[in-house]
Amino acid sequence: MIRKQEYDLETYPFEPNDFLFYFRSLYHDRGLKAFYQLFNRTRRRPYSRGLIARFAPTGIGLEIGVGARTICPTTRTVLSDGYSEHGVANSIGKVFFMGDEIPYKDETFSFVLSEHVLEHIANPIKMLKEWIRVLKKNGHVFLFLPHKERTFDRFRKITTLEHLISDYENDISFDDQGHLKEWWQDIVEKGLMPDHYKHIGKQDVTGTGSIHHHVWTEKEIAELLEYVELKVVLIDPKVHDRRDTFVVVGRKI
Ligand SMILES: C[S@@+](CC[C@H](N)C(=O)[O-])C[C@H]1O[C@@H](n2cnc3c(N)ncnc32)[C@H](O)[C@@H]1O
Ligand SMILES: [Zn+2]
Repeated sequence: MIRKQEYDLETYPFEPNDFLFYFRSLYHDRGLKAFYQLFNRTRRRPYSRGLIARFAPTGIGLEIGVGARTICPTTRTVLSDGYSEHGVANSIGKVFFMGDEIPYKDETFSFVLSEHVLEHIANPIKMLKEWIRVLKKNGHVFLFLPHKERTFDRFRKITTLEHLISDYENDISFDDQGHLKEWWQDIVEKGLMPDHYKHIGKQDVTGTGSIHHHVWTEKEIAELLEYVELKVVLIDPKVHDRRDTFVVVGRKI
């Protein structure tokens, strides 16, 4: 399928040195003071990086919604984002497009990785189908997501697969307001709005990718990946180096 604007891997400015890239982005974000602790625990995240090394040791990857940091090997990962700013953070993305309209050809990537993004998406099945389109056969999807019970989403109801299928069949758009009332009642009015979204008013919370439309645990995400015909090869309910997070890895068969 040809997208509105096509990119190719020939012109993508891959980093020559993975380590230096992390050093520079960390220094830019926090300065030297926080360097040692953040570099090891937040930036490098050995457990999570180890998963990439285990399931996708070679080949070019795509990160969706990279935000201000990445755990991906930057020498072989295209860092993309839908927004150049998210909350109060500037994105380190090098190419910008929405994750449900990826301007690369079918079967370009060996892996697609995304952290804390799918919950911001109004139509997750549409998004996942697009990731699968650009993924090579036997390629992997790494989905790191906030666990409902370990974040500010804890008062909300878990999103069912039936709900997601209905969002897909109704072709729900990225700025859908269907979950706005629930977000306002269960997060903002309970005083749980995260600091980095506090300046964003009710009228803008959907159009800026800030709202969590949906809420999950690893169980529902494994079910969702099977539904879109990925083979689930790993489920970890608690990511050791990002403790509010679970991870599910799916393989394109
Ligand atoms: C909570 S931040 C997570 C950033 C980073 N991945 C992390 O784990 O810290 C959500 C990210 O999703 C991106 N995003 C939101 N909606 C998107 C969309 N439709 N397509 C691509 N990226 C999107 C935002 O720009 C932002 O970078
Ligand atoms: Zn929905």
